[in-house]
Amino acid sequence: MREVGIGIAGFGTVGGGVLSILRRHAGDIEARLGARIVVKRIALRDPLRARAVDVAPGLLTTRVDDLVEDPAIEVVVELMGGVEESFRLVSAALSRGQHVVTANKALLAARGDEIFRLARARSVDVYYEAAVCGGVPIIRTLRESLASDRINALTGIVNGTTNFILTAMAERGEAIGPVLAEAQRLGYAEADPTLDVSGGDAAQKLCVLAQLAFGARLRPAEVLTEGIMGLSPEDFRWAREFGYTLKLLAVARRCGPAADDPRGVDQIEARVHPAFIPEGSLLAGVRGAMNAVVLRSEALGASMLYGQGAGAMPTGSAVVSDIIDLTRNILAGSPGRVPLPPEEPLVSLRPHAEIRCAYYLHFSVKDEPGVLARIATTLAGRGISVAAVQQREPPEAGAPVPLVIVTHEAREADLVEAISEIGRHASTLRPTRLIRIESV
Ligand SMILES: NC(=O)c1ccc[n+]([C@@H]2O[C@H](COP(=O)([O-])OP(=O)(O)OC[C@H]3O[C@@H](n4cnc5c(N)ncnc54)[C@H](OP(=O)(O)O)[C@@H]3O)[C@@H](O)[C@H]2O)c1
Repeated sequence: MREVGIGIAGFGTVGGGVLSILRRHAGDIEARLGARIVVKRIALRDPLRARAVDVAPGLLTTRVDDLVEDPAIEVVVELMGGVEESFRLVSAALSRGQHVVTANKALLAARGDEIFRLARARSVDVYYEAAVCGGVPIIRTLRESLASDRINALTGIVNGTTNFILTAMAERGEAIGPVLAEAQRLGYAEADPTLDVSGGDAAQKLCVLAQLAFGARLRPAEVLTEGIMGLSPEDFRWAREFGYTLKLLAVARRCGPAADDPRGVDQIEARVHPAFIPEGSLLAGVRGAMNAVVLRSEALGASMLYGQGAGAMPTGSAVVSDIIDLTRNILAGSPGRVPLPPEEPLVSLRPHAEIRCAYYLHFSVKDEPGVLARIATTLAGRGISVAAVQQREPPEAGAPVPLVIVTHEAREADLVEAISEIGRHASTLRPTRLIRIESV
């Protein structure tokens, strides 16, 4: 039986999952492939640390270059994380004509262009299903299943840590501090959760998805990114009052060319932020650490992928599926069968000031006549129309009164200007809270 040699760089959570699956499903994989996948080398940093999966010590190395230099290794599987060292490994492997599988969204978001260019030049494959939403096959869906369709919008819950936190806050009415501490205790959040709670991880994933869905070329820093640390139990109470739930969404949406663009190139909005979504909507039922992506495409309409976005086995299964697909290409002598993202961007980024959506605005104002009228007039002056208003009694005499307004769709720049002007009203006592509303 033909053997295909692979080298795995990284023997942590995902590396361990990959090895267990390759071992457990070896018979099925061989039967499906008509070939055997053989792990030739595994690179790690600390060869003395105990591992979840036993391997022959002779397979282990602390030199990632051993994977690149071994002529028996046809596929390098990068599961180390980080950008610099993993880029060095991946580019060295591609330059030598080895195919690459990676689960590393940070690497792809930062240096994907160079990696794809190198792969094209050397006619080798790069597979990266596990880089976004772990075990959920969103990359394959965008690359293959919807290759015939034109995607108009992609809206996802792509970070399990923040979805776990927001679900617990919504269901238990607790503040973010204790819920985050619980997520860390249960292993859903890292000791340093910054990348997740800031929205940065979701922005990296959105860059990878937007490249496939729209042919965009985005850097995470270009994505409008707001995290969840500013959310309070009060926001969840108001969400319920208006029939919404609160999620951290990654949104990329096609919105046609800019009015002054003679070439007529479509623009996309690209943003990651907490959003109110209707209680009965597709993403509202995505609880805990689960991930989901809703696609809206011209031919298929709405479709949704849902599943576990992290963990050794779900993520490992996506990596092994990539290895199998890649092995098929090797056996058929047809690398490049599934094209990489286009070299030149097909869309440009719409400036964030031009984003259009509906908004929840929470004002804290003096308890006096005329306040609502003044705010409504300021909003109307910028073309922002009000869909609903709720006002509460002050919790105690003289305390600020919560006044909540839900707007119809408006332009972000107009809204920001209106809020800034309202902030200067003598009756406004605290900064206004703004949460965008999405109808997913
Ligand atoms: N965990 C998930 O659920 C998940 C989901 C989707 C995608 N991913 C992605 O998958 C990748 C791996 O994540 P993970 O959670 O498995 O990470 P992890 O548990 O921290 O494992 C990283 C592994 O890489 C090894 N390593 C790091 N730097 C190295 C170097 N310079 N040379 C040799 N080995 C090195 C480490 O060695 P030691 O063990 O000796 O320290 C460790 O075995 C990341 O890109 C991550 O974003 C993870």
